[in-house]
Amino acid sequence: MTVSSPALFQAVHLAGLQLPNRLVMAPMTRYMSPGHVPSQEAPAYYARRVRGGVGLVITEATVIDEPHATAYEDVPGMFGTAACLAWRAVVDEVHAAGGKIFSQLWHTGAIRKPGVGPRPELPGISPSGLLMPGVQSGREMTRADIESVIVSFSRAAATAAKLGFDGIEIHGAHGYLVDQFLWAGSNQRRDTYGGSPAARARFASDLVAAVRAEVGPGFPISFRFSQWKQQDYSARLALTPRELEQILLPLVDAGVDIFHASTRRFWEAEFPGSPLNLAGWAKRITGKCAITVGSVCLDSDFLDDSGEYEKLMHEFDASKPASQEELLGAVSHLMSGAAGAAGLHGLNDRLERGEFDLVAIGRALIANPDLPALIERGDLRQVQPYSAEMLSRL
Ligand code: FNR
Repeated sequence: MTVSSPALFQAVHLAGLQLPNRLVMAPMTRYMSPGHVPSQEAPAYYARRVRGGVGLVITEATVIDEPHATAYEDVPGMFGTAACLAWRAVVDEVHAAGGKIFSQLWHTGAIRKPGVGPRPELPGISPSGLLMPGVQSGREMTRADIESVIVSFSRAAATAAKLGFDGIEIHGAHGYLVDQFLWAGSNQRRDTYGGSPAARARFASDLVAAVRAEVGPGFPISFRFSQWKQQDYSARLALTPRELEQILLPLVDAGVDIFHASTRRFWEAEFPGSPLNLAGWAKRITGKCAITVGSVCLDSDFLDDSGEYEKLMHEFDASKPASQEELLGAVSHLMSGAAGAAGLHGLNDRLERGEFDLVAIGRALIANPDLPALIERGDLRQVQPYSAEMLSRL
């Protein structure tokens, strides 16, 4: 690690984007968008993280205009004049703060139950009408449904581009619609959209190809995927690197620029025999940019009562000059029980080795809008632990 400039804080040019560092705000649903319109506080909420040092924001998941698309009230949409005006204000404020912003586009599939959204009478739709093996929810999608969802995603992407977003991310993770196609547990179709890993990836790749055709060649498309599902934390899309390849390579051909591999703990190896995490495998398999995520700057031991915090604060007295390397090491100790391997220091080393390109942070950025700046300056006294209560306001 170069002492003067850790990889985390090095500028980078990737997927056509110039970014000041490697830190990304992870997409986080906040339920603060009544009528699917982002609130007046949303521009300041996002821009605060940019002024705090994040180079790229990925918005909270945003529903497309397909009538079965949402399972939730108070989440934003990428449709309607009011929502578009509100998103434009978010984009403008993030740009004014010097950041880039992607819109994360979303269809909740079988998670939906009737009673919510602009068409409350409609059921959820999904590849096989299944939430998970043996659990029926809503109805199986017809070919016309598939076509309609794909057209709606493309329209949302075009709208995002028109509003000035710097790219879009398809939410293909966590057991929502796109992931319901990818996962054998919820996709039991017998047509060309079900069966092998490559067949299960066909819906996602058709969708990405349609979005790419709509937005043209220069507009970045990120694809977020995960092994785990909210329906089953132990679920897996791919049991081997070969299966992961069968899922990801069609997505590359369809036009994905960035793979955002959602894991709960970034330091965990994905397959036996290699230390690479899921983002590392995505990058190795596809040659594309990869974003890692999962408990960065978070741990159950985060700023606990052990006295270690005070001890380190004493050692890293602000009046005493410390190298960047020492500061990252100190923050790693503070923020992770498994100091080093799971901490910022280990994260930085992986970034430096090229395992992945960018690092998304979720909860720690809710708690600390200026977390990147605090880390870079070594201003450790200011770092706040995350608590779920912080979600009650933007
Ligand atoms: C999330 N996450 C999430 N993921 C996603 O793809 N779209 C979303 O809208 C949301 N919403 C969301 C809300 C809240 C309150 C949390 C805490 C998380 C997952 C998130 O992007 C991230 O992957 C996880 O939080 C893990 O990162 P951290 O929090 O450990 O840094």
